[in-house]
Amino acid sequence: MSELVQLTRDGEIAIITIQNPPVNALSPGVPEGILASIETVASDDAIQAAVLIGANRRFIAGADIKEFAKITSGGKRSIGLNEVLDKVENCSKPVVAAIEGHAFGGGLETAMACHYRVAAPSAQVGQPECKLGIIPGAGGTQRLPRLCGVAKAAELCAFGDPVKASEALTLGIVDQVIAGDMLAGAVAFAREAAAKPLIRTRDRNGKLSEAADFDAIRKAAAKRSRNLMAAQKAIDSVEASTKMSFDEGLANEQKLFMECLYSDQSKAMIHVFFGEREVAKIPGITKETPVIPIAAAAVIGAGTMGGGIAMCFANAGIPVIVKETTQEALDRGLATIRKNYSNSVKKGRFSQEVMDARMALMTPQLTYDGFEKADIVIEAVFEGMALKKQIFGELDGIVKQGAILASNTSTLNIDEIASATKRPEFVVGTHFFSPANVMKLLEVVRGKETSLPVINTCMQLGKKLAKVSVLVGNCFGFVGNRMFGPYRREAQFLVEEGASVPAVDQVLYNFGMAMGPLATGDLAGLDVGWRIRKEIAHLQKPGIRQPVAEDQLCEKGRYGQKTGVGWYKYDENRNAVVDPDVAAWVKQWATEKGIEQREIGADEILDRCIYALVNEGARILEEGFALRSVDIDIVYLYGYGFPAYRGGPMKYADLVGLDKVYARICEFEKQHGELWRPAPLLEKLAKEGSTFSAWDKSRG
Ligand code: 3HC
Ligand code: NAI
Repeated sequence: MSELVQLTRDGEIAIITIQNPPVNALSPGVPEGILASIETVASDDAIQAAVLIGANRRFIAGADIKEFAKITSGGKRSIGLNEVLDKVENCSKPVVAAIEGHAFGGGLETAMACHYRVAAPSAQVGQPECKLGIIPGAGGTQRLPRLCGVAKAAELCAFGDPVKASEALTLGIVDQVIAGDMLAGAVAFAREAAAKPLIRTRDRNGKLSEAADFDAIRKAAAKRSRNLMAAQKAIDSVEASTKMSFDEGLANEQKLFMECLYSDQSKAMIHVFFGEREVAKIPGITKETPVIPIAAAAVIGAGTMGGGIAMCFANAGIPVIVKETTQEALDRGLATIRKNYSNSVKKGRFSQEVMDARMALMTPQLTYDGFEKADIVIEAVFEGMALKKQIFGELDGIVKQGAILASNTSTLNIDEIASATKRPEFVVGTHFFSPANVMKLLEVVRGKETSLPVINTCMQLGKKLAKVSVLVGNCFGFVGNRMFGPYRREAQFLVEEGASVPAVDQVLYNFGMAMGPLATGDLAGLDVGWRIRKEIAHLQKPGIRQPVAEDQLCEKGRYGQKTGVGWYKYDENRNAVVDPDVAAWVKQWATEKGIEQREIGADEILDRCIYALVNEGARILEEGFALRSVDIDIVYLYGYGFPAYRGGPMKYADLVGLDKVYARICEFEKQHGELWRPAPLLEKLAKEGSTFSAWDKSRG
């Protein structure tokens, strides 16, 4: 056997154990080890049946995702998993998969090639490949419909959702749920199975003729994962199981799998898979770095953000004080929280009891009473340096030593805020996104004196609050908003140059963004940027073009959805309607500024908006305000609705080719001037034929 797969015995039952920590992926050596074990099982007359189990109470998390990049870059596949699974399925003695933890992707495919499957009550099974931009590639789309029916199999392969053991039992994916000692239970099961005739999954054709509305499933998948090729191909492959023999279906699946594997979508989504884990890795932070226990929290301000942040704590079971300045503001804030929770109860997301328990964790008040007990205080008052410094000064005198003082500021300098205290090492930015109880991103903003334990705690707290935390540096707009500025600037410039408002939004929507940039402005409130621009007007370099239309819209009181009019008009259900007045006004404002009107194509709209993100992202990287390009990508995915199948702005640029991106940016510089000066890092990497991902790796 190999070190990764061990064969032991319990009497006449062979026990094949996969030991490939941390998740028992099917890395090179594992399929080979399973194959060798099965050959022994088949040839040894003393063995009656076998149990296939994973060490450390985990079955198999699937193929080794790291191997895919090796295959697409020309490396050789160690051994075809299909070949191994064929041997398992054709073994003359029953093989029982004993599932604890996860049987995902190739893990479930391995289990389905076994003759029986037993699972622990807490186990989960699933075919999550589409979340990596691929389809099951080792028989999943052919064996799963034979076990649970074609319609369910198509959904499981196209949506990628996990299924708990109890449901897997009902669906026919597993044969028995075993509570208690899994190995003992699976061995007993195998002993009984040894006396029964062998049934191969490939021969179980009964459920293939069940009715299935594939078109409806395709539509549902397209709605849930817009533009995702793998979801559609997974359905095609499951549908093929109803029309082809098992072997033909397997060959067809392999062809579709390869098409997906070599696509940019899968490269992007695999980048995201590893990126989501990479962002948690921070130089200097180790397992030994202390984490400050957060048992009690306080939030200052119960407005849009403070209310949402307080909900995050209550949702995580952490008691939270909510402080306001007036009873009216406090009542308004709490009423919004209550309304949000009630809506969730109405939608059946959780029960009234859960809502009541969460509300009971909140202590609304107008004073600092109890702040001395808080382990973290998050300030979310109006955006103004003087006010924030006053509050941090007050907190410094009240809050216990060792507690974290965090600001939710979106633009202000964390170091200056920290200077109002005598403990700048405990001051940090926790930049939530609106609505804070919904959006998954948390930018943890590191001040120059913020300590590693404080950063470590905030990163981990993010996880507890169901967020993806990304560490960012203390520059204007941090990472996300700093890049969003040029992106939205270009959207506005394009409209001022003659593109229509819906055309700009449609191009970005078709690219995969959750919303177009102008509609996003209407949602967030156009007045927010307008106020910031007024505040920082004195910092603007003279002679540099500024967008005019949005400020003019604000002058007309058109702040977006909140006033019912912005770039669009909104009906009572907040549906956007194109407003012809806007086009006429923008044309007039542009003419007054001497901006030439012209036809603008979709390619230019896309490149100007997305490359504006990329160019600013490259500057952020070079200036050290993001640790890696993948951190920027994760910020964009979770904070700004960037499509996962594009991998984030930096990965998208890598996939287009930095030479092409750089050349286009140089063109824009010629046409539009210094706002488009290429970032030096982009220029360097483009000229070297390199990528942002390679740059990340070169820095360790
Ligand atoms: N291949 C390679 N590495 C993997 C992996 C896999 N399938 N699954 C997890 N890892 C790595 C992670 O990158 C991480 O590495 P790190 O510590 O260096 O950052 C480590 O294992 C631990 O992973 P998690 O932090 O995610 O551990 P959790 O305990 O939180 O979650 C899990 C476990 C639910 C199994 C989760 O890791 C997961 O969802 N994994 C991916 C499952 C998947 O997508 N499987 C399908 C693969 S494609 C396939 O099988 C194709 C087939 O059809 C041929
Ligand atoms: P908001 O105006 O909705 O709420 C601010 C609240 O703070 C008000 O209810 C106000 O009464 C209260 N407040 C003011 N002074 C106070 C004090 N001394 N003590 C207690 N409460 C006080 O503002 P919003 O949008 O919630 O913004 C709060 C902070 O979050 C700002 O720094 C903003 O830049 C930032 N932010 C805002 C985002 C958004 O989309 N609205 C997104 C991310 C960050």
